[in-house]
Amino acid sequence: MAVRPVLKAPDPKLTQRAKKVTSFDASLQALIEDMVETMHHVNGVGLAAPQIGVPLRLCVIQLPDTEELLVLANPEIVKTKGEREVSEGCLSVPGYRGNIKRALEVTVKGRDRYGKAIRLKATELLAQALEHELDHLNGILYIDHLESPEHLYKIEAQKEPEELA
Ligand code: NI
Repeated sequence: MAVRPVLKAPDPKLTQRAKKVTSFDASLQALIEDMVETMHHVNGVGLAAPQIGVPLRLCVIQLPDTEELLVLANPEIVKTKGEREVSEGCLSVPGYRGNIKRALEVTVKGRDRYGKAIRLKATELLAQALEHELDHLNGILYIDHLESPEHLYKIEAQKEPEELA
């Protein structure tokens, strides 16, 4: 296992559409372990493979103060409900947060780390993290959703633990 460097905008690898995971083999498991270790190391809520330069449709999510680790390969949003304004940050856009709109509820389907089909419905921070990570797989950053540059603001480093993904 290894902590991998997290790419920062405007790295072009962050704006590419990632490819489907086709093989759930030992090398994929090793990649997932690296992603989890990297996410923990940088105190992230989630991490998508393109953020460490791997162009695969794969992400990991672990909400703060929970044990449950979600690994999703080839995730797709099946349905969204409602809209709310959220404050969002990204490990690939350090030093900033922004106010954007996200869904109240999302339903996602995909595969787990072994290729088994999974489907989940989420609200609140998990819904936000799912939309955020799925965006990464399509080369989209939260800053692409800003309705105005005024909705982006600088944060002081190390002020408080921030929820970044
Ligand atoms: Ni991010």
